[in-house]
Amino acid sequence: MSDMHDRELAGAFDGQAPKFEKAPVQSDPAALERLTREAGFPSGSRLLDAGCGPGLVAEAFLRAGCRVVGADLSAVMIEKARARCAYAGEAATFIQASIHSAEVAELGPFDGAYSRYVLHHVLDPRAFLARQVELVRPGGRIILCDHLASPDPAAARRHQELEVARDRTHTRNLSGGELVDLFAGAGLEDVRYCEEPFELDFDEWFDRGTPGESKASVREVMLAGVDARGFRVAPGQSPSIRIECVRAIVSGRRA
Ligand SMILES: C[S@@+](CC[C@H](N)C(=O)[O-])C[C@H]1O[C@@H](n2cnc3c(N)ncnc32)[C@H](O)[C@@H]1O
Repeated sequence: MSDMHDRELAGAFDGQAPKFEKAPVQSDPAALERLTREAGFPSGSRLLDAGCGPGLVAEAFLRAGCRVVGADLSAVMIEKARARCAYAGEAATFIQASIHSAEVAELGPFDGAYSRYVLHHVLDPRAFLARQVELVRPGGRIILCDHLASPDPAAARRHQELEVARDRTHTRNLSGGELVDLFAGAGLEDVRYCEEPFELDFDEWFDRGTPGESKASVREVMLAGVDARGFRVAPGQSPSIRIECVRAIVSGRRA
């Protein structure tokens, strides 16, 4: 099950990589700066980038003086990460592998770990976090950034249906409360949480996905109105559709 999901993810992100690295939400310098600031890793820290994609986040941590080992399932994402971060020389290593693989464990232990926009693609969020806890030294911090789901189950379900229609590899966004519980449940200490709003343009967002349904049918649902915390259609935008989203940054320290 997990191997098949990993293969689907690798294929989907091989296809998405060229548009993904140019997407405003992924490349936004202010959001990257916020993430590195919230993480607060001391310069020289050696970090695991879990699901590194095209190396946008790795580049931000490298520029903050850290060393990065990035792992990703997608060969195209890894090529892009290597090209983007080549200037950093030995401070940056990228490996095409699951974070659950032995190859990644052999590169540890790490001073800290981070992931951005990966959790909503995994089948087992607890296993995804537990793996990072396992690979980080005692005292190391693990930080995660992801889009939020509404705490209202019905609204979260409607949001999830649209996400899956636009990207078949999407599993589930967690609510803010679920994220905090995930970190506390993994035994992490000093759990910190903050959130910030961001916006998506429907066409830009849909066109870089791996859809399971037609764009026209998803557009129709969006225009009828979607009002979930974390995924809300801004009023009065037809024919363009602006989606008001919320992302969270959550972190905790390994005891
Ligand atoms: C939405 S992209 C985010 C990329 C990058 N973190 C960023 O924010 O720019 C999600 C990435 O996670 C990777 N991924 C998902 N599960 C993974 C796993 N178990 N091990 C390694 N990479 C994984 C996918 O291949 C994909 O490239």
